[in-house]
Amino acid sequence: MERNEFLSKLGIGLVVVCTGCSLVSCGGSKGGNPTPVGGTPAPAKGSGNLFSVDLASELINIGDSKVVQGVIIVRIANGDVESAFTAVQVACTHQGTAINYNTGQGIFICPLHGSEFSKNGQVLLGPAALPLQKYNVTITNNTLTVSA
Ligand code: FES
Repeated sequence: MERNEFLSKLGIGLVVVCTGCSLVSCGGSKGGNPTPVGGTPAPAKGSGNLFSVDLASELINIGDSKVVQGVIIVRIANGDVESAFTAVQVACTHQGTAINYNTGQGIFICPLHGSEFSKNGQVLLGPAALPLQKYNVTITNNTLTVSA
């Protein structure tokens, strides 16, 4: 085999190898709809009553939270009134990681890429672009009910 023939074949081989690397390493990183990597899908609107909480024994202090059926309910103020609680989907709208409530800042923060959401689920900081779904909270006696 001549040297030029050898180098020519080697060059073609490198192009094929590099093209393959490029396709693999860039897949899925340029916008579009992200694929959720975790979390429970948020219940759809109109699903009715999702779960109840006994306020005599749960969600006693500001910042206390509970996650049930893909929804996080958080006590954000004192008193057993609806406005003292917020309920939103727990899966971040970016890639589905479970969000946490930061009591000091009074916002939800995603631990994976740092998206921030208001108490009502509105996006305060990306990369998430869509708000969290908000759920209804009603209280009868000591029973708090979350519904969609
Ligand atoms: S999963 Fe990326 S910011 Fe939440």
